[in-house]
Amino acid sequence: MSKTTKEYFGYHNEDVSEILISEAAIQRRVRELGARITKDYAGRNPYLICILKGACVFHSDLIRAIDTGVFTDFIAVASYGTSTQSSGEVRILKDLDESPEGRDVLLIEDIVDTGLTLNYIISYLKSRHPQSLKVVALLSKPSRRLIDVELDYLGFEIPDKFVVGYGLDYAQRYRNLPYISVLNFRS
Ligand code: IMP
Ligand code: MG
Repeated sequence: MSKTTKEYFGYHNEDVSEILISEAAIQRRVRELGARITKDYAGRNPYLICILKGACVFHSDLIRAIDTGVFTDFIAVASYGTSTQSSGEVRILKDLDESPEGRDVLLIEDIVDTGLTLNYIISYLKSRHPQSLKVVALLSKPSRRLIDVELDYLGFEIPDKFVVGYGLDYAQRYRNLPYISVLNFRS
């Protein structure tokens, strides 16, 4: 095991103690998802859109687990709300570089909580007429859902806890942890 998170981040006002999903388990699941996508998209060139910033680590690993020609693009959104809760009001900070029209779009998201953010992005992308649109999410907290969104490929279902690591942040920290950890706020 590498350094403890306390050694990295001991100066922050929270603790990341419990490892919820290990690096090995994530990597195994990413390979499985990549193999399924390879099979489902055989002979096609899916357009893998990374939702910045949270999905960047997952997206980087996933595209290398897919054994068919892919295109990649990036979209950045800001959800209004607090740092642990989204409001569903979303603003596009960085749009796609290319048009998704006529493409087989795979939207890559880090975590689906209430579903509001993803629901907004799906509606936006649909308005730009992709050939097909499917969603890949690393994590889902089904108990928190406010709006139903179909997740075509899912890494893990997790309980209602705030998690960080593997791209996911709290106030822009902890994205570089190679595993998913639960964040405990110090009182
Ligand atoms: P939703 O709109 O409530 O589904 O929120 C989705 C967004 O909130 C994700 O893309 C994350 O950026 C953020 N989020 C939700 N839950 C967590 C968490 O446990 N850790 C880190 N970010 C989270
Ligand atoms: Mg996100």
